[in-house]
Amino acid sequence: MNSFPKVIKNKKISRNWILQNKFRGKTIAFVPTMGYLHKGHLALVEKANKLADLTVVSIYVNPTQFGPNEDFQEYPRNLDQDLEKLATFNVDLVFTPSDKEMYSEGFVTTIHVDKLTAPLCGARRPGHFDGVTTIVSKLFNIINPDFAVFGEKDFQQLAVIKRMVKDLDFNLKIESCPTIRESDGLALSSRNQYLTGKQRKEAPVIVKALRRVKELVAQKQITTPSEVETRAKNIIKQNSNCAKIDYIQCLSADNLHEVNNFENSTVLAAAVFFGKTRLIDNIKLT
Ligand code: PAF
Repeated sequence: MNSFPKVIKNKKISRNWILQNKFRGKTIAFVPTMGYLHKGHLALVEKANKLADLTVVSIYVNPTQFGPNEDFQEYPRNLDQDLEKLATFNVDLVFTPSDKEMYSEGFVTTIHVDKLTAPLCGARRPGHFDGVTTIVSKLFNIINPDFAVFGEKDFQQLAVIKRMVKDLDFNLKIESCPTIRESDGLALSSRNQYLTGKQRKEAPVIVKALRRVKELVAQKQITTPSEVETRAKNIIKQNSNCAKIDYIQCLSADNLHEVNNFENSTVLAAAVFFGKTRLIDNIKLT
């Protein structure tokens, strides 16, 4: 039978619940989310279930990671629906703080990860990663997990958080899950629900382009990262009327540096607008 998870809004109460469980020797796996959960989030929860005795999920739409002209106000929220979805998994605690709980009056501290935040989404969304690393640090301090699980769709976020955990000696292990996709390949995202019918139909062009150039690299028909980028852009332009490319870029998966040839781990990352909706995706090329 499905049972709804325990929901706590208050950080002191959450911390006490966690301390009691840690005192009993329980390990904790944590899945931070902004809610409006889809199968991608649920795959993270499933992984968390396997990693530790207890699973904690946070649902919090963090205002500081949205730019002034971004979709903070419109970002979809539906706590009841989220809790219903989580009820089919073993979730021991859902932490749902308010803005006041997370950003008390006079809040002036920011966690900034340098360099890795410079390219891709960091360049297009100034301040975004400072908001992410600050809130994730706070959540790690409140939940004190042994593991935290993130999705690989947010490839740069994952790299930035791994670096932060290393640099700041957070005592936890970061785990990740592959991107979950619709049957036509579109990466699941809470933002997909903004798409109009026509945009939704065209949005899988991103993954199609990424997969096609990966094939061409494997067949040695494309031999340089700059050719990869040009070809992927052309595929998108030729197959969609409404796509507007924000970036398509090859980078080293290790340090997010630009690459001139295919290193051991080269990733092709893409951000594409459909109307006002910005979708991201990535593929490992080598
Ligand atoms: O990936 C997200 O949903 C958010 O960036 C995160 C990690 C929950 C921080 O707000």
